[in-house]
Amino acid sequence: AHRLLTAPGLKGRRVLVSAGPTWEPFDPVRYITNPSSGKMGYALAAVAARRWADVHLVSGPTSLPAPLGVHLHRVTTALEMKDAVTKLAEDMDVIIMAAAVSDYRPVEAAPQKIKKTSGTMTVQLEKNPDILLALGRDRSASRPNVLVGFAAETENLVQHATEKLTKKNLDFIVANNLTQSGAGFGVDTNQVKIIERSGKIIELPCLAKEEVAERILDRVEQLLADAAH
Ligand code: CTP
Ligand code: CA
Repeated sequence: AHRLLTAPGLKGRRVLVSAGPTWEPFDPVRYITNPSSGKMGYALAAVAARRWADVHLVSGPTSLPAPLGVHLHRVTTALEMKDAVTKLAEDMDVIIMAAAVSDYRPVEAAPQKIKKTSGTMTVQLEKNPDILLALGRDRSASRPNVLVGFAAETENLVQHATEKLTKKNLDFIVANNLTQSGAGFGVDTNQVKIIERSGKIIELPCLAKEEVAERILDRVEQLLADAAH
């Protein structure tokens, strides 16, 4: 029903959104993760589907229902997310990495629950691959037409986000200040800045995550239209 009220601005476009955290286990019942709820990525997928896009949502573990009309690919770890995203990527017109991918994973995962002993415990971590960085590096002239990242920061928001925009070869980055109330992990609202390659910064007010998704996808639609000329 929603679709009837929404302009089909992404009709015929294939859109990949990643969402949620990843879990990096070190035994069968324990893992390293972060507080991402998946709400921002799920909102992007839902809004893109309402605009008639063919949407693939690659999601880490969340408690959210699959948005209507979206192909949901569930993953657990960063390595699984990389595999799922990489397989889908070459057919996509738009890729938006909203997932909070764990930067590190335990070097080893014990096959059985680790028993507590006296003293401290150490878990050795190794770096996960940067999925978005690889997508930006492989970018051919045509695919994907639009590549978007998020930046989660607690300080120097614009500087850090701009560095990621450049390094990962993105069209724009959505900069999230995690220290702000009403923004970032877990909550239903978000307050972000959209930073573009030109250096232009669009500062959005605090909005519902669905409304933030509308603004992000408006910008994506503009870029797709520009690319067609
Ligand atoms: N990202 C990714 N793969 C990773 C880590 C991050 O694809 N292993 C993506 C995120 O989905 C996001 C962007 O890169 O779109 C920026 O993530 P962020 O954590 O803010 O930046 P990092 O590059 O990981 O740097 P740091 O955490 O050190 O600030
Ligand atoms: Ca990170």
